[in-house]
Amino acid sequence: MIKIAPSILAADFAKLADEVKEVEAAGAELIHIDVMDGHFVPNITMGPIVVEALRPVTTLPLDVHLMIENPDLYIEQFAQAGADYITVHVEACTHLHRTLQQIRSLGVKSGVVLNPHTPIEMIQHVLEEVDLVLFMTVNPGFGGQKFIHSVLPKVKQLSEIIRERNLPIEIEIDGGVNEETIVPCVEAGATILVAGSAVFNASDRAAALQRIKAAGER
Ligand code: DX5
Ligand code: ZN
Repeated sequence: MIKIAPSILAADFAKLADEVKEVEAAGAELIHIDVMDGHFVPNITMGPIVVEALRPVTTLPLDVHLMIENPDLYIEQFAQAGADYITVHVEACTHLHRTLQQIRSLGVKSGVVLNPHTPIEMIQHVLEEVDLVLFMTVNPGFGGQKFIHSVLPKVKQLSEIIRERNLPIEIEIDGGVNEETIVPCVEAGATILVAGSAVFNASDRAAALQRIKAAGER
């Protein structure tokens, strides 16, 4: 079973609550929230107040993807705001092990994110500390970019390690996921698929979400 996590980055921010309710009704399993600070990535989006505002709107888990420098300074705020998952970029964490422990100590599921060029060796010593590994299949910062296929061998490599070591870790893929690119993602071992523009830019979001999911489960 795979899970689809629509990214609200591609939603209409003027009616965010309705957008979230729409994809929940359409069968989404998580809501993916892209937090950008204008430093780690060249774009600025939303902070903990948006997570807090959305918390009562949906019963789905809120999957908070932090594309920010110094994430340690904000983890507690995002936890209090109602995040269910907090994922941090390995490239932004000097003390990654401590950061992941901090996330879990707040009762939140911990995740680590790898940019397209970052090798999985960077996370091999923190696998006991994570509930989720997120692979970027675009360079973070913007929705609507083209899927980078060369990331997939890393995904496969990690899913083999997870299987061998029998670790309870989910693999998530983010960036350029649509009904075509989802197929090799699932083959490589992904279980959670983020989809922004492929869902929210469709005229019929429910149909688009179901088509993407069906393609992944085929
Ligand atoms: C990119 C974000 C993604 C983005 C995905 O920096 O992390 O979550 O919203 O959007 P699509 O699915 O349009 O590539
Ligand atoms: Zn994201």
